[in-house]
Amino acid sequence: MRKKIAAANWKMNCTMQQAEDLLNNLSSANVNLSNDKISIIAVPFPYLLLAKQKLASKQNMFVAAQNCYTKRSGAFTGEISVEMLQSMNIPFVIIGHSERREYFNETNTMLADKVNIALEYNIQPIFCCGEALEIREAATQNSFVEKQLKDSLFHLSNEQILKVVIAYEPIWAIGTGKTATSQQAQEMHQHIRNVLAEKFGNDIANEISILYGGSVKGNNAVELFSQPDVDGGLVGGASLNAEEFSLIINAL
Ligand code: 13P
Repeated sequence: MRKKIAAANWKMNCTMQQAEDLLNNLSSANVNLSNDKISIIAVPFPYLLLAKQKLASKQNMFVAAQNCYTKRSGAFTGEISVEMLQSMNIPFVIIGHSERREYFNETNTMLADKVNIALEYNIQPIFCCGEALEIREAATQNSFVEKQLKDSLFHLSNEQILKVVIAYEPIWAIGTGKTATSQQAQEMHQHIRNVLAEKFGNDIANEISILYGGSVKGNNAVELFSQPDVDGGLVGGASLNAEEFSLIINAL
């Protein structure tokens, strides 16, 4: 059975003190994470170890990095390797967030390399896809997202794709307060699952968790997560408040 996942993406937010407060609040939050439900907290690199330490006693709550580099090690000033993440026992990494694609020119090909190296080091990628507003307005979102998946994930083996979590994040819904309707989310998630099924087969496609991201809040999570192909969320703004994020976890 595929897992239900509430993932937090703090992005470039929080001072050390704020991170510590938020982690303390998360660690004491009353959340229901049973076996098939997990939460993943993607914090900025400097707080990875602190987050691991603070959340260590929290059952089914894991820490993630928000990015990694394509190379193993070497003269790449300012970059973070998956080898480093592995050495810190970080189990997940977000790959291909639309902000990375847009501001740091990350291409589908580069993201395929990041997926490969993460898997090689046994770190599970949370692979992001999603279209901009112009693409939605031109009604070409299905083929656009399909290409993102094909270019960055279709070279994987069955065993490898099972390690990938997919996050569909329509860019027009990120940080805008304009959430996709549950119907729009379901339609795209079903499309993504069909695309995966064509390549990897139904059984495998049914095992892959597909998260929705884009203005998920405590008050819309239940409706979004009730859709058959929406297996949880990747949450930005609302994950910076432990109480609000707990509502989202408990909506799984
Ligand atoms: P918001 O929840 O702030 O819209 O951000 C979504 C997102 O980009 C998560 O990765």
